[in-house]
Amino acid sequence: MKILVTGGAGYIGSHTCVELLEKGYEVVVIDNFDNSSPKSIERVKKITGKPVTLYEGDVRDGALLDKIFTQHKIDWVIHFAGLKAVGESCAKPIEYYNNNLYGTLVLTDHMRKHGCKKIVFSSSATVYGDPEVLPLTEKCKTGGTTNPYGTSKYFQEIMLEDIYKSDNEWTVVLLRYFNPVGAHESGLIGEDPQGIPNNLTPFIAKVAIGALPEVGVFGNDYPTPDGTGVRDYIHVVDLAKGHVAALDKIKNAGVYTYNLGTGVGYSVLDVIKAFNKACGRELPYSIKPRRAGDIAACYADASKAKKELGWEAKLGIDEMCASLWKWQQMNPKGYNG
Ligand code: NAD
Ligand code: WQD
Repeated sequence: MKILVTGGAGYIGSHTCVELLEKGYEVVVIDNFDNSSPKSIERVKKITGKPVTLYEGDVRDGALLDKIFTQHKIDWVIHFAGLKAVGESCAKPIEYYNNNLYGTLVLTDHMRKHGCKKIVFSSSATVYGDPEVLPLTEKCKTGGTTNPYGTSKYFQEIMLEDIYKSDNEWTVVLLRYFNPVGAHESGLIGEDPQGIPNNLTPFIAKVAIGALPEVGVFGNDYPTPDGTGVRDYIHVVDLAKGHVAALDKIKNAGVYTYNLGTGVGYSVLDVIKAFNKACGRELPYSIKPRRAGDIAACYADASKAKKELGWEAKLGIDEMCASLWKWQQMNPKGYNG
């Protein structure tokens, strides 16, 4: 089976390419390298010893999509390509809606044109907004998003559901990721944020490597056990395997929605402690004000994916931190180091 992976050079895409190749799938990648490096694809090939067909370009480029679908008989598309920074999306809503919404429209239009009607979409726990109940099940209310990035994910889910409603030959799999962290055990691929990281674990890793002075903990007065924000961190390799499980299991047309998380919530201080263990020293941190738009706690009920896909996260917070630390040490400046 041949899979077109959009955004396959990115953080989650590159890890998913590895898992697909190791399970015997053929992989074609389209990526414009807006937030990634072609080196990640070289590393994917090195890890697996398998070929990857790479097209440099944009998912909004219909002529390029025509070329790809003509040159390859694609069975499934896994659609990672998009912009993902919450803060930046508030400053650049036009760019975010253009890339994320228009990108999905051009892609699905060309999938239909070429008779490929199976898509796995990278959605996010952010579609649940501020949770009313925890843990979050797939039946919880969506919408109420507070930034253009989150709203674009919510809209993309609705667009894909409408496509299925109009044509029941489509298979649409909406995977709602919680907080993906960590790196491949080889240390060859990982998350490579540009500039100062927005997310917690890459920030901690930069403190550990000495590139930043201390971790700022955004608020310690939340209604959580230690007052700091609680999230469902999931190892990126487990997450990648969730995509393969969806392709392996889902045989019939329809819309399928799954939370991909561990079901366990860790606080910011828990994560710092786990990283201390991984890097062998106490990292400096200080309490800062709450970050605008943050919620107190968010974690998944991931039982639907276990029941229907036979998938569950296997790796814990210690493996997440150890693998991130290995990646950070082997690549102190990311792919450009
Ligand atoms: P990433 O930025 O590392 O990967 C996205 C990839 O898509 C990059 O390689 C980028 O160059 C490429 N890209 C962006 N726009 C493109 C376009 N128009 N055409 C072609 N390529 C394009 O991000 P990631 O963390 O790997 O996230 C992958 C997907 O998962 C995104 O859709 C993101 O919104 C979603 N997601 C991520 C998280 C997270 O915390 N990382 C959580 C939930 C959902
Ligand atoms: C985690 C916790 C912060 C940085 C974001 C997106 C979400 C999804 C995943 C794509 C929070 C705290 C953080 C720091 C801190 N992405 N923190 N100091 O905000 O849960 O989710 O990424 O879909 O949509 O919003 O992740 O890693 O930024 O924060 O104390 O320097 O760490 O307040 O409690 P978040 P995060």
